[in-house]
Amino acid sequence: MDSPRHVGKIRELVYELKVEAVMTRKLITLAPEAPMSGLRSILKSNRISGVPVVSGQTLVGLVSVEDFINWLAQGGRDCPVGERMSREVRTLSPGEPLVHAIGKLEQYGYGRLPVVDGERLVGLVTKGDIIEGLLQEMQVNSREEEELHRYRASHFFEDMIADRLTVNFQYQVRGKTIEQGGEVASDLKRSFKRLGLHPEVVRRAAIATYEAEMNVIIYAREGTVDVSVDPETIHIIVRDQGQGIPDIQQALQPGFSTAPDWVRELGFGAGMGLPNIRSCARSLDITSEPGQGTTLRISIPLEPERVCA
Ligand SMILES: Nc1ncnc2c1ncn2[C@@H]1O[C@H](COP(=O)(O)OP(=O)(O)OP(=O)(O)O)[C@@H](O)[C@H]1O
Ligand SMILES: [Mg+2]
Repeated sequence: MDSPRHVGKIRELVYELKVEAVMTRKLITLAPEAPMSGLRSILKSNRISGVPVVSGQTLVGLVSVEDFINWLAQGGRDCPVGERMSREVRTLSPGEPLVHAIGKLEQYGYGRLPVVDGERLVGLVTKGDIIEGLLQEMQVNSREEEELHRYRASHFFEDMIADRLTVNFQYQVRGKTIEQGGEVASDLKRSFKRLGLHPEVVRRAAIATYEAEMNVIIYAREGTVDVSVDPETIHIIVRDQGQGIPDIQQALQPGFSTAPDWVRELGFGAGMGLPNIRSCARSLDITSEPGQGTTLRISIPLEPERVCA
């Protein structure tokens, strides 16, 4: 099996990489006027199971093997694909992190999702694209990590330890749309990399912050993230004013979620956020007052070998 380190690396990349980094840009598309009778050979010769239908550059639908079979079953009288395509197409946007794309592919059970910028079709993402993108990025990242280790040796992080300094960061999390969430986690990650923290530690802090930030956006809409780094530990405190958690033990169970349908449709609500935070941290302490809000206290040791997950 994979070493826990590699599993961790993939998990980090899934949060970090954007859809546009892995999507296929060379697309096979059809115009709505194209004949249904031509679909079979297009699907077969390209070994694909669905084709986006575009008018100019605008995505107007998707026509799949299933649509083709239904058309055949109903007599197969030739007509434009525009009459048989599905118009309610689930899509991705180029700036979404892969974690959303994977969630949506699983959620909908589709093999592929078109990527649109506004209404314009700009790409297509399959599970294969995601795997390929991740593998490529793993190679790039291992080189970066080596550089980072060298960087660390000469950086002021060592001085910080010597002087027993504490570095603080503060953020506000406001009710933005879920799809734009993750800003605090990305910013923190950049700062931690600059500080020369160990890549494994940066990864754990970024994942924990991302999950906590998304929960604030989804369940509370507003909150603060206070981070302090002392020579031994990163302390992350996430406070929100919101609905609170009535049963914390239950909320910590993997798979437990109260996410409403519209949140699930965006690929969230697997009930893995809090368990993920816990597995990234040495300790996770949650206090919550229903109707008032929730506070998460997360500590992550700076020496990665001291983390057990
Ligand atoms: N800040 C919060 N305020 C209120 N309730 C929360 C908060 N964070 C979590 N919860 C509750 O705990 C449940 C579990 O949270 P968790 O992050 O583990 O899963 P999720 O958000 O439902 O799904 P996922 O994080 O996998 O997208 C949530 O469904 C919600 O009911
Ligand atoms: Mg969550």
